Amino acid sequence: MANKSAASAATMWPSSGPSTEQRPYKTLWLADPQLEPASCVPEEGTGAYEQLNDYGVGPIQQERIPRTYFTMPDHERDARIFALKDQLGDRLTILGHHYQRDEVIQFADFQGDSYLLSKQAAEQTGAEYTLFCGVHFMAESADILGAPHQKVILPNLEAGCSMADMARGDDVEAAWKALADLGIDGVVPITYMNSSAEIKAFCGRHGGIVCTSSNASRVYDWAFEHGDKLFFFPDEHLGRNTASRKGFTADQMVVWDPFLPLGGNTEAQVRNASVFLWKGYCSVHARFSVEQIEKARAEHPDVQVIVHPECRIEVVEAADMDGSTEHIIDVIRAAPSGTTWAVGTEINLVRRLQTQMPDKTIFCLDPVICPCSTMYRIHPAYMLWALEHLIEGRVVNQIKVDPDIAADASVALDRMLDVSRQPQVV
Ligand code: 13P
Ligand code: SF4
Repeated sequence: MANKSAASAATMWPSSGPSTEQRPYKTLWLADPQLEPASCVPEEGTGAYEQLNDYGVGPIQQERIPRTYFTMPDHERDARIFALKDQLGDRLTILGHHYQRDEVIQFADFQGDSYLLSKQAAEQTGAEYTLFCGVHFMAESADILGAPHQKVILPNLEAGCSMADMARGDDVEAAWKALADLGIDGVVPITYMNSSAEIKAFCGRHGGIVCTSSNASRVYDWAFEHGDKLFFFPDEHLGRNTASRKGFTADQMVVWDPFLPLGGNTEAQVRNASVFLWKGYCSVHARFSVEQIEKARAEHPDVQVIVHPECRIEVVEAADMDGSTEHIIDVIRAAPSGTTWAVGTEINLVRRLQTQMPDKTIFCLDPVICPCSTMYRIHPAYMLWALEHLIEGRVVNQIKVDPDIAADASVALDRMLDVSRQPQVV
């Protein structure tokens, strides 16, 4: 199987997806022959499989690595990774997103949510190599924000993000053109960090900006200083939750379905809208429900419910509070001993919080929730494989964004970093 590691995401995804019959590949999210199967696959329950098929999303293929990397005892694999990390010293930084499993996080020099990891990539430009234990869009952002001499490595190329895949460049361009054809201007595009470099570049080119769940509110303020409408990609829910916080009502927002003329809206709806929400969602956070919150409250009367803003609006409204991954961690850490927390976010993080704070009761809102199955594709076996090549001077799985795309995307990313650095007016 060919290693396509040097290609940018923009060149790896097909620009116009083949029809279901023509499609020569298996859907990325279903197959990983080298790993023991995860106990369940969260996308299945939400319809993301079918939707990704509709979007024509193809796999970034990971080179098959020797089976021995998986079959060797964990302690041996871990010791080898630590030894290589020592050997590489300051030349290597390992970044880990909070949703990574503990077996991976143990090696991370720096752990954070999407915002903190992007900030880290922009500021820590000393190391020659960044081993990015997260998903593809994060590694792309690290490549764009890092110094030119730095090489970003994603241990398993199949660690993508189903939400990011729901907004494709040509579909976004078509939506933009549809608005222009109606003479609608003054629209500022915002893309959530969880999107391809191509969509970030689109925003950079059109006076737009990137946001993460940590700074979406401030980015909305910025957008409305620069235009009178905004188009939010690709997470309908974060877009709606943020707009709702800003006082927009449901009839001022329209959902844009890229498969329908005018996104599935009437011309009048499009003309009247202030906020356009791309029809995309996170297959992990879309699983949380109001029923789960009611059950948690019935079973634990003193529970406090905190959820990620990628959850649906009725879930965010039913919860006691919501916030980015980093915010969730900070709130629970600061809470008094003996408090009880039901958390609506990815299970690896929730389990880590449970372990770190045994004096509090912390549980996941969804009792059967699985890890983010794409984050889960980062496994120590791939880390060892990548580091062993690195020590021999061969960079595998480098994520290198096309320079033209990177230049436009960095405009939108830098705008976000600037907005976030400004003092917050409360
Ligand atoms: P944050 O890291 O911004 O909280 O986003 C969560 C997420 O879904 C990352 O993929
Ligand atoms: Fe994508 Fe959701 Fe997984 Fe984050 S948690 S990588 S948004 S699928």
